[in-house]
Amino acid sequence: MVDVILGLQWGDEGKGKIVDFFAKDYDIIARFQGGPNAGHTLYVGDKKIVLHQIPSGVFHQNAINLIGNGVVLDPVTLRKESDTVASFGVDLKKNLFISERTHVILPTHRALDKAAELSKGDGKIGSTLKGIGPAYMDKTGRNGIRVGDLLHKNFTTSYIKLRLKHQRLLDNYNFSEEISNWEEEFFDAVDFLKTLNIVNGEYFINEHISKGKKVLAEGAQGSMLDIDFGTFPFVTSSNTISAGVCNGLGVAPQKIREVIGVSKAYCTRVGSGPFPTELQDETGELLRKTGSEFGATTGRPRRCGWMDGVALQFACMINGVTSIVMTKADVLDAFEELSVCTSYKIDGQEVNQVPYQMSKAVIEPQYKIFKGWKKKTSAIKKPEELPAEMHQYIDFINQYLGVPISYISNGPGRDQIVKTGSQKTKI
Ligand code: GDP
Ligand code: IMO
Ligand code: MG
Repeated sequence: MVDVILGLQWGDEGKGKIVDFFAKDYDIIARFQGGPNAGHTLYVGDKKIVLHQIPSGVFHQNAINLIGNGVVLDPVTLRKESDTVASFGVDLKKNLFISERTHVILPTHRALDKAAELSKGDGKIGSTLKGIGPAYMDKTGRNGIRVGDLLHKNFTTSYIKLRLKHQRLLDNYNFSEEISNWEEEFFDAVDFLKTLNIVNGEYFINEHISKGKKVLAEGAQGSMLDIDFGTFPFVTSSNTISAGVCNGLGVAPQKIREVIGVSKAYCTRVGSGPFPTELQDETGELLRKTGSEFGATTGRPRRCGWMDGVALQFACMINGVTSIVMTKADVLDAFEELSVCTSYKIDGQEVNQVPYQMSKAVIEPQYKIFKGWKKKTSAIKKPEELPAEMHQYIDFINQYLGVPISYISNGPGRDQIVKTGSQKTKI
């Protein structure tokens, strides 16, 4: 069976920490989509680590980590990360497996990402510029190179052909940056990648499942960045929702048991695009400062605002979320009052649904106000010790969403998490 952990907002919900926390109970941790645009932070002791390509179960000796076919893989990032985890005694040759169907991010994909963003001017997506969009375009355009192809004697010929195609596109953009250094490190990293375990991912995972092994699928980005259901066009290029697990790993829908949604106790977004509850004032600034809201991949300041119940309910619906882990609850310790958006006003009408073209609608969020708890919560271990005002906040969200909040995360550390007891789930 497969359980899933994924983000319910615009990414950076704290998935890395939560996957690391649950990983001890699983045999395989598998990434099913996205690429090095992800930045998943976790702590080993007091050491902070940010993972981009490798699943967040890598620090658990008994777990196998799988990069699924739905991921786009940059060999250069993987190689750098391999060095990082090696300094903690983790040998990827032993516990990382990569699907041969996984598409490879080439240096020209990164260049194309940059050229395309530059050409959009003010309308830019705010991409992480890791080559994600162009790599997925080559997948759906049936041009891309897959990890299995790296082992093939025709690889260099396929690379040169695709590079020429990309060069023509880059010329159209008048992109003149020199990328030969990128290519040098790319080919070195490809040689390294070839020494890792490259497997038929779909048989690999299904054989483990049929032997009774437990799989934890780790999402990247968040539901509101999903290519189909997110705030298009300000989205990423993959299906970040639970449906992405099936085509990103090759597992059947009946194999999925729990869908654990991770949501911050408030909301953030990095990059451009609609964000109805954004606070462009001192409250937003306080959230950013208290929550250290700066991107784990790009270092950009994250836009901050109150929890958006409408978007969260939408995310629960499309993912089939069975329980929620609410992270960064401790960040709200500092606030006198908290707000949760419970509906939108669009053209004078109150609505409870996310409009299909959120980027075109003028949305006025309608809020329910809560009293803050004004108490330090980061050392709390038991649900009964959480402040009454926090219980009121959680109970309301539980009820509003119709999904239990099973855990509250109250700090970045591995052990800063409280099981609420309000869960019917198996986790
Ligand atoms: P991810 O992309 O979903 O894995 O999230 P990121 O790692 O990009 O961003 C989450 C940030 O919040 C990281 O710096 C984490 O260390 C931190 N974090 C995670 N959970 C908590 C929490 O409960 N409280 C606080 N204060 N920080 C947290
Ligand atoms: P994790 O897994 C937050 C955002 C970018 C941009 C848009 C498209 O750490 O939660 P892309 O690089 O995919 O072309 O960027 O998506 N974005 C993320 N925002 N967390 C992420 O990943 C993100 N990955 C991409 O900022 O707005
Ligand atoms: Mg992140």
